Amino acid sequence: MAAYELLTLERRDDGVALLTLANGKVNALSSELVAEIGAAAADLAADLPGAVVVTGGDRIFAAGADISQFGGPDEARVIGPAIHAAFDALASLPRLVIAAVGGYALGGGCELALACDYRIASEKAVFGQPEILLGIIPGGGGTQRLARVVGPSKAKELCLTGRQVRAEEALRIGLADEVVAPEDLHDRALALAAELAKGALVAQGLAKQAIDHGLSTSLAEGLRLELDAFTEVFGTEDSQIGVRSFLENGPGKATFTGR
Ligand code: COA
Repeated sequence: MAAYELLTLERRDDGVALLTLANGKVNALSSELVAEIGAAAADLAADLPGAVVVTGGDRIFAAGADISQFGGPDEARVIGPAIHAAFDALASLPRLVIAAVGGYALGGGCELALACDYRIASEKAVFGQPEILLGIIPGGGGTQRLARVVGPSKAKELCLTGRQVRAEEALRIGLADEVVAPEDLHDRALALAAELAKGALVAQGLAKQAIDHGLSTSLAEGLRLELDAFTEVFGTEDSQIGVRSFLENGPGKATFTGR
């Protein structure tokens, strides 16, 4: 496993991997931290956990790209692809990746949360794409992933005004999937991840992949992808276990192997 200085990656006994950003007070997504997120995603891909939780500080999840590293188009040509590569690597893990957002998730912080599959927000969380207030636009997937999550009109309003939304509104527009009390945030995220880690992991990966790939293609192509995955999943040990357990013991009692 790579050595990290700006984040911690804990592999827990229950099969959950906990990735915690730890880059100073505001968790600015400097090029160094972005590289570490990419390296952590590669570590996770090489030895898959059962589920992943991504979190930051209690008051600031992440304040976005490190503005002090900005320059002109030459810098942007390096910063943008590096963030895309790191976030794509995290997003494409064939496991549920849960963002536990305790506070401000702004700019690249919001984009990191969007690269996760599911967002649990504390009541104190604040989301936003404030890049426009710097005279620039999101470059870490915000224009694409935000629009897919909240729809194009709301994404345009948020990206073009830079307005920040609090947890309650985030929940209403689908940017947050759950809102919990600040003191419950980590327990809830870890509990959901632990529950998933006991599940039929290959099937989870195939379902996630079918949904994600389907969203960027036509319905017909998405349905074809689903059929391929549906056929493939019947080749797993867990599908044999799950079906047999249902027939013998009823629903929800299978003990899966993750294979
Ligand atoms: N990049 C670089 N430095 C940042 C930063 C970022 N994205 N966000 C905050 N900082 C720095 C501030 O400049 C300040 O530095 P200083 O202590 O040397 O003056 C320090 O972090 C603390 O920030 P401050 O604004 O004083 O803290 P706060 O608690 O009042 O507010 C935020 C925290 C996150 C709400 C606020 O800093 C903010 O809005 N940050 C910018 C968000 C943004 O525009 N992100 C998009 C980037 S493209």
